[in-house]
Amino acid sequence: MTGKIRQQYHLEPDCGLLNDPNGLAYFKGKYHVFFQWNRFAKNHSYKEWGLFTSPDLCSWEFEGSAILPDQSYDKDGVYSGSGYVIQDKLYLFYTGNTKTCGKRKSRQCMAVSEDGKKFLKTGPVLETPEGFTEHFRDPKVFKGKGNHYFMVVGAQRKNGKGSIALCRSKDGITWEYTNMLAVTEQYEMIECPDLFQLDGNYVLLFDPQKRDNEKDEPEYSFAASKIVNFDEKTGTLDRENLDEGYTVMDSGFDFYAPQTFLAPDGRRVLFAWMSRMEEEQEKAFAENEPNIHCQTIPRELSVKDGKLYQHPARELYQQLGNEVTVILKSQNVKKAYPENRAFSMRIQNIDLKQNLCMDFHQGEAKIEYNPVEKKIVFSRCSWLTDEWESKECRLENLQEMEVWSDNSSLEIFVNGGEKVFSSRILPKDRKPELTFAGITERTNIKIKEII
Ligand code: FRU
Repeated sequence: MTGKIRQQYHLEPDCGLLNDPNGLAYFKGKYHVFFQWNRFAKNHSYKEWGLFTSPDLCSWEFEGSAILPDQSYDKDGVYSGSGYVIQDKLYLFYTGNTKTCGKRKSRQCMAVSEDGKKFLKTGPVLETPEGFTEHFRDPKVFKGKGNHYFMVVGAQRKNGKGSIALCRSKDGITWEYTNMLAVTEQYEMIECPDLFQLDGNYVLLFDPQKRDNEKDEPEYSFAASKIVNFDEKTGTLDRENLDEGYTVMDSGFDFYAPQTFLAPDGRRVLFAWMSRMEEEQEKAFAENEPNIHCQTIPRELSVKDGKLYQHPARELYQQLGNEVTVILKSQNVKKAYPENRAFSMRIQNIDLKQNLCMDFHQGEAKIEYNPVEKKIVFSRCSWLTDEWESKECRLENLQEMEVWSDNSSLEIFVNGGEKVFSSRILPKDRKPELTFAGITERTNIKIKEII
């Protein structure tokens, strides 16, 4: 059956493969979400930027291709990058990837747009500096508190270990490499760095990647965050060792390459690629579909008590419709039957009688909390083995949970976004059905359909 995994309100193109969000910007009254796109096939053999726009983060227009790999310096892939509005023009920064006789070369490139529809490439703005291999990509541009522009780039040092490079520019157009911002001794590459001010702190996002340097192949990677101090004058971080003091950004199965931007009202908003699937999982998941992968919902970020919180963007609540009735089945067990899988659910004043278990659609997925072991576990039914597979993390106490469910995904925000679990789910041919066990009647459950 096709169309089974097609999402209702998550961003995904009609065909091919989507990965990282790119070029996020609010420009000329519209949110711009570019993305890594292979429009020809559900694999990673080709990369361009596609584009979605929206006036309100809720209704989206698919604008098709934005930047193609059609120049000598980007012919083997328009890789990830960012956007920045300078003097009423949208500047896009991306990695032009080329591979000649198996030899990789990366260049950080620029394109500019006056209307958000036509993008004029101006060519490379930065060659790979001394001391780095050609795994040098994903430029993220931001403006400092002074008037300088900065660019952080994901990198691998010549010794085969990962790093983040820092570049500067007076005008956002002419760039120079200045210094190594941060390093890792445990990972061979850092992808998709992001550095921004938030609630009086600087926050660094980065994706540590294990690689087999001999084979030049990635092994595994994840998204991390770290609260830091960034000294603009010296271009240095107070804590430049990436192997220490970081937090895993998402505890679920599918979350990678997050990128943030500033909404016009000053909120820091994040999108991420909702996938960490292996090739075999990708093949089986989208077997009968024309496309694969989507972005997460937009999330607002904040820092409280030195911790990064993620919360669904407030605009999303405008899409909530009818309330779904919650039925008391027996002592400590409640049930609900939403019309379809696109719903949002808030569980507040969680009062536990025993371990909490929330089951989605009779065993497609579940989330459990054990207050004695202080452990929260998310499980989904594997579409390869038909058995449970789980992800867990420590949680001191559980006060509330918010779940954003779509046709084939769950995003679960725990305690106001202190922890998040994002995962794709392969729906079975079952009617939506939610079961809540282990909670007392005091626990408040509100479910609303998403229209
Ligand atoms: C992260 C990533 C980036 C790269 C892009 C290519 O998912 O590997 O480092 O620019 O994907 O699609």
